[in-house]
Amino acid sequence: MHYKEATVENLEAALRDARSRTLALIEGLDAEQLLGPRLSTTNPLCWEIAHTAYFHEFWVLRHLGRRQEILPDSDRLFDSISIPHETRWELPLPSMADTLQYMEDVLSAEVSQLGEVKLEDSAKYFYLLALFHEDMHGEALTYTRQTLAYPAPAYLGDPAPANGASAPENEDIECAGGRFLLGAERNGGFTFDNEKWAHRVTVAPFRMARHAVSNQEFAEFVEARGYTTREYWCEAGWQWRQERDLECPVYWRKDSDHSWYAREFDQWHALALAQPVIHVSWYEAKAYCRWANRRLPSEAEWEFAAACDPEEGTSGMPCKRRFPWGDEACGDCANLDAGESGLAAVHAHPAGDSALGCRQMLGNVWEWTDSTFQPYPGFSPDCYTEYSRPLFGQTKVLRGGAWATRSRMIHNTWRNYYGPDRNDVFAGFRTCAK
Ligand code: AVJ
Ligand code: FE
Repeated sequence: MHYKEATVENLEAALRDARSRTLALIEGLDAEQLLGPRLSTTNPLCWEIAHTAYFHEFWVLRHLGRRQEILPDSDRLFDSISIPHETRWELPLPSMADTLQYMEDVLSAEVSQLGEVKLEDSAKYFYLLALFHEDMHGEALTYTRQTLAYPAPAYLGDPAPANGASAPENEDIECAGGRFLLGAERNGGFTFDNEKWAHRVTVAPFRMARHAVSNQEFAEFVEARGYTTREYWCEAGWQWRQERDLECPVYWRKDSDHSWYAREFDQWHALALAQPVIHVSWYEAKAYCRWANRRLPSEAEWEFAAACDPEEGTSGMPCKRRFPWGDEACGDCANLDAGESGLAAVHAHPAGDSALGCRQMLGNVWEWTDSTFQPYPGFSPDCYTEYSRPLFGQTKVLRGGAWATRSRMIHNTWRNYYGPDRNDVFAGFRTCAK
């Protein structure tokens, strides 16, 4: 979302929309499910929803609005920086009724403050920061429901009937490469610190697959004993695989009829061959690449393929688009916002192709890149100092957004980052020729 789009009306609508999504994500769960098991990859859901409200209170009401706290103990309950992850199940959390009341109080104070502060870009920044933070946790709550095999959130509706259609041919697209500005330009959009700022890089010519790797393609690797053949895996990846004793992606199962089934939330159904593979770790993506004699793109290659319009550049520098299809938002161009009840086939949404012809560079699945998450030259942390900095050097970059990612937040220069071991998030990948 651009600052110029962030009017009082649009911000209020977006804040309410984010909140109703957050609440819809805990709907139908009982007290035990709301706490959930103690896992390193999830949070107690009842903690996580209050944490998103706390984040609004901290940045929009207390920091920007210089207001007093609404909930006196909130720093000791909901600040993710000071509260170690493994202790979040033992906190003296307020009751569910009090939690919901707190969330409601924060939202109404935030909305009335919209009409009281001078809404300059510097003020909008905090509203958008808190909004996108809630959107990110909405995605996390969604994958938590998948991890814990809870029912699908009701707003997703009934899943489309199992579709056995095979995946289309995944041909390579030639990209001439060249000089390119990697990162966000100062063009009036909300920008996280890790995207700042656009800087010159040179990308060598490369060939990138039109589509993400499909379930059909990935199943060939699995059937070729990909998971038990040591030579396809890097050292850390092999150790990761052995600890879990995985012989296929974590939510796959082979039935007695020898065909593949996959779990979505609490339901098992026949593996949809034309959909992208999802819930695979960076290690699994790397092993697939080794087997297929392919490689993962670097994040510069990924951004080049998503954003460059070589026809439109000036002085040897190709012009960059905000989205693969152009500079304006487009409803039918990507599978985002959970608008399609889950994954789409790898060849859906041709209207969203990048100038180079790559499909679904945004939406459907996050795509692992080969790149370790590092600061761009001249990096300095923004006010939420712990957003990016602690994760540099520790995580791998993912690009593009998934089916559950909010469209108001995502664009071509957006960088996501998770450890290479994470197979619980909505991640797949796309490959390049060697
Ligand atoms: C940017 C999605 C990796 O989930 O760890 C939420 C977002 N940071 N609260 C994460 C985030 C703090 C972050 N990711
Ligand atoms: Fe957070």
